[in-house]
Formats: sequence, C-alpha cells, structure tokens
Amino acid sequence: MPLQHEPQGVELSQNTHELIIVLDFGGQYNQLIARRVREANIYCEIMPFTTPLETLKQRQPKGIIFTGGPAVVFEENAPKIESELLNLGIPILGICYGAQLIAHQLGGIVAKATHREYGSRQLQVVAPKNPIFAQIPASFTCWMSHTYQVESLPEGFHALAYTDSCQNAAFSNDNSRIYGVQFHPEVVHTSAGTALLHNFLFNVCQCAGDWKMGDLMSEYIDNLQLKIGKNKILCALSGGVDSSVAAALVHRAVGDQLTCIFVDNGLLRQGEADDVERVFRKEFNINLIRVDAQERFLTALAGISDPEQKRKIIGELFIRVFEAEAAKLDDIRLLVQGTIYPDVVESGNTHAAIIKTHHNVGGLPKDTRFTGIVEPLRQLFKDEVRALGRALGLPNTVVDRQPFPGPGLAIRIMGDVEESKLEILRHADAILREEIALAGLDKSIWQYFAVLTNTKTVGVMGDERTYFHTIALRAVSSTDGMTADWARIPYDTLEKISSRITNEVPKVSRIVYDITSKPPATIEWE
Ligand code: XMP
Repeated sequence: MPLQHEPQGVELSQNTHELIIVLDFGGQYNQLIARRVREANIYCEIMPFTTPLETLKQRQPKGIIFTGGPAVVFEENAPKIESELLNLGIPILGICYGAQLIAHQLGGIVAKATHREYGSRQLQVVAPKNPIFAQIPASFTCWMSHTYQVESLPEGFHALAYTDSCQNAAFSNDNSRIYGVQFHPEVVHTSAGTALLHNFLFNVCQCAGDWKMGDLMSEYIDNLQLKIGKNKILCALSGGVDSSVAAALVHRAVGDQLTCIFVDNGLLRQGEADDVERVFRKEFNINLIRVDAQERFLTALAGISDPEQKRKIIGELFIRVFEAEAAKLDDIRLLVQGTIYPDVVESGNTHAAIIKTHHNVGGLPKDTRFTGIVEPLRQLFKDEVRALGRALGLPNTVVDRQPFPGPGLAIRIMGDVEESKLEILRHADAILREEIALAGLDKSIWQYFAVLTNTKTVGVMGDERTYFHTIALRAVSSTDGMTADWARIPYDTLEKISSRITNEVPKVSRIVYDITSKPPATIEWE
C-alpha cells in the first residue's frame, strides 16, 4: 500500500452512491453548503479547488458546487479551474466567487460593483420556470456578501434573477446545466435558499436522495480497510469526542492492528481517565496504553502561573511523553487523527490542519517516523461525528462530552497548579456537573465547569474564622464556542450547587457565578 505524507481523509475509490462535490475556493460558508447537501440525503465531499481534473472525473459526481471565496477572479493568483471541467456535462452551480469564476472563465465580464452588497437583499426572479427556481416565490430575500459581480454574461447564458444593484444575481446556461448565483443559498438568511439548492440537486443533477448518514459507517470502514491494509496504526486518544470516534471507527475497521496511547496528564476531570480506560479497553477491547504521566506534568507545571506558559509546557510535554511511548512501538508507521471539518476550515490548509488537531490533543509530533496520517473524520461536522460515534456504540458519556480544552484543568486553576488545588477543583466540578444533570440542564447548557480562582476570602464556619478558596462557576450557551452567553441557571439550582460545594469540598468557603458573555470575556478563564 503506498503511504503518503499528506493527511488523508477516507476517500471512496468507487462511488457506491450518488456524490456531490463541493469545490472549495475558501469561502466562509463552505461547510454549510456541504451540510445542506447531506441534509438532502445526498453524500457530499468537500475538495480543494486544486483537485486534479482527472480525480474529479474519476469520482463521477452527479454535480459540482463551486463555493464562494475571498479572491477576485481576474487577479493574478486567483484560484481557477481547468476550463475542461465546464465542458464535461456535469451540472455545476457556482456560488458568489464560484459564479463569478464561471462567468470569467467562459468569457463574461466580472467587475467591481458600484455598491458593495452586504446583507439581505430582495431578489426578483425573471425566469420562474427555470428548474432551479421551481416552486420558489418570484421574489424573496437573499443574503449577499460581495464587492465584485458579473457585469456581462458569457455567450449562451441568460439572467434568471436580479437585485437592485446586481443585474445578474442568478444566471444559467441550461443546455450545459451550468448555474451561477451571486447570493448565498446555503445561509438561513436566504429564505428560499434550501429550496433552490434542492432544485439544483434534484431537478438539475437528478439526484435520488437515498443516502443516509448511517451508510457512512460501513463505507468508511471499507475504505479504512483498503487504506490501512495489513499495516499497524497508532492513535493518540485524548478522551475527547473526535479522537474517541476516530479510534472506535478505525478499530471497527482493522481491529487489533490499532493501538491507542492515552496520556493521563492528571489534568482531566474527576473519573475521566478511568472512564477512557474502561470504555476503550474493557468495553471495546482496544489495545490501549495508558501512560500515567501525572507526576511529570505536575512537576513541569510547578510554580508556573502564566497561562500561556502553562499551555506551552503541557503541549510540549505531551509530545515528549507520546513520542517516548510511540518509540517502543517502532513497527507502527501510520497515525490516526481525529481532525474534523471545522479544524480543516479554521486552519485554511491541510498542513495547518495537522497543527490544529495537535493543539486539540495537546500537540502531536510534527515530523516523526510516521509516514501516513489517516484522518477519517476530515469531512464531517461535529454533530455528524457524534452520530457516527453513536452508530459505533460509543456511550453518551463519550459522544456527548462537553468541549474540554487540551490543557485541561490547568487553565481552570488560576495561578500555579498543585495536586491539592486539582483535588479541590475536581471535587467542586463533579458536584456542579451532578447538579446540572439532576436539574435536567445538561443537554441545554453548552459548557459548564468550575474554576479555582486565585483568591482566598474570609468566611465563618461554626464559630471559626476561615480564609479559604473562592470557586467560580462558569456555564455558557453557545453554538460553536466563538461567541457565548452566560447560562441563566435557576437560582434554586445555583443555591444547591453553592451549598453542596461549601459543605462537601474542604477549604472552599465562597462561590461566585460568572455572568460575562464572550466577548468580552472568553469561555475559559485562561
Ligand atoms: P475560549 O476560552 O477561547 O474557548 O472562549 C472556546 C472553546 O475552546 C475550548 N478551548 C480549547 N480547546 N484546546 C482545545 O482543544 C485549547 O487549548 C482550548 N482552549 C479553549 C474552550 O473550552 C471552549 O469550548
């Protein structure tokens, strides 16, 4: 089996179902496009615009969607496609930059708009009988975000819709089945956007829409078996959702050829390290090496109170511990990583994607003897990863796990980290989690945890003056962690948490609730 240095998603060598390719030109809504396609029960893969024409042809897509992107089509290094792609008879829908690219490469004119259009605009459809506007109102709100637009259409194309300041807001060459829309049908602000995408997928591409998320598992397994062959493969398991699902999937595909290394850095929450061991070794029967490195991490962190320094120390030590353990398994040349699609998007390119994944598990070695990296979740969104995890039989404790930072509790203890402080924090955090679950709030609050502030305050217990720790409670609602609002936990629940922590956790005499949103605060305190 040829091993490759580039990270690899699971790619199907042969389609067993209909495929839509989303050709990625770097737009900010690309993942939404793929999501809309999958929601229509059509399998979809996002590929970089640099994907060779031959590869695209081999995959025999039912249609290709060109995404938006930040470039200007006529500038020197702007992303292009091989023009032949437009002559293959494969239906194409270009969105924003993708639409401009089609026009530009086929001889139309793209120019700077007199008014930059950004936000909601009213779209007027002039060709209601066109297949992409079937069953759609003649006028609807659409979401625009562009500075350049198609001024004049290439030969054979005609306008389908316009807005006040964009005369070719939608256009097509129906014979060639090539369509372009300047607006973004994938965002919710375009009221008929999903209907338009469905029209493209079903009316133009003639998709049947019979793919199911569950089909993915067996397809991924088949392809992992092909890709991994008889080789051995290693996974750095962090206990987080992504690496857990990746490990369970690879194990399902190649069984004992997989070995997982789990570095217990002593910075996980109460019971977590044992849970990882129980689920993966006992329930899944996976070869798991648990490295008890608590002492090493604590020693390295001793006396360090700067948050960035803590992160750096933890990241670097993780690499050293992992490498030392991996070196004992010198017949393993393949590495599994739980990179998911948002990691790929955030990082902007495949190389950076590795860095981001490393960051999630605290850092993985950059150049080692690993000659192949397998990233089976590279095409999936978080909720899809969770669905796959469930299908693989992973318990809810793993699949529904809250986001948890790589540096763990070390960044929830303000100031220097010591075992005695970790003990206090773990205990308080466990009470918080238990009470949130008892109150039935565990599904609705996105992330909740306790923080050990670096503040002692005066209290009174019995007749004694105390001078003990202050614990802060943090609970937020969010969809992606980029922005967040503090959760309105009912007072009764807060009271119970406060009372239990001060009664049950030694050396804590004050509880405060963090009522800041992000921005201006961040979710974590460090
Ligand atoms: P902040 O604190 O930046 O966190 O608002 C946003 C989300 O990211 C998580 N987080 C991390 N995740 N490694 C991670 O894998 C990290 O170093 C890290 N720092 C913060 C945080 O828990 C929240 O969900």
